[in-house]
Amino acid sequence: MAIERTLSIIKPDATKRNITGKINAMIEEAGLRIIAQNLTRLSRKQAETFYAVHSERPFFQDLVAYMISEPVVTQVLEGENAIAAYRELMGATDPGEAAEGTIRKAYGIDKQENSLHGSDSFENAALEISYFFAGKEIFS
Ligand code: CMP
Repeated sequence: MAIERTLSIIKPDATKRNITGKINAMIEEAGLRIIAQNLTRLSRKQAETFYAVHSERPFFQDLVAYMISEPVVTQVLEGENAIAAYRELMGATDPGEAAEGTIRKAYGIDKQENSLHGSDSFENAALEISYFFAGKEIFS
C-alpha cells in the first residue's frame, strides 16, 4: 500500500467543545501521523472557495456560516492508504449513520456539524493540502 497524505479539518463544532485532543488521539491510534497542523479561523472567502464544489447545494450558505463560526484545525495526515483510511476513521457524513468506532459516531452532532473534513481523492488531497499549507510547513 502506498504512503499517502490527506487534508483534515477539525471543524468548529469540535474546537468549540474542546475535543481536538480527543480527535487527534483517535487519528494517531489509527496509525496516521499528523505532519502539519494549524489552528486558524477561516475567512468567508476561504470557506467559500474551499467548498466551491457545493456552491449550488441548498446547505451551502449555512455550511459557510458554520465553518467560519469558530476556529478550525487544519491538518495534513500521512500514512498507508491515508485518504481512504481517514475517510473510514471519520465515518459517514451523517453521524447518525456512522459506524461504531468512527470519530463521527463518537463526536459528530449532525450532517453539517460532523466534526471533520477529509479529502475524498488523491487529486483533491493534493489540491486541499496546497490550499492550506506551504511545503515547508509539512514535516514528514
Ligand atoms: P465535508 O466532508 O466537509 O464536505 C461538505 C460538508 O457539507 C460536509 O462535510 C458537511 O459538513 C456538509 N453537509 C453535507 N451534506 C449536508 C447536508 N445534507 N446538510 C447540511 N450540511 C451538509
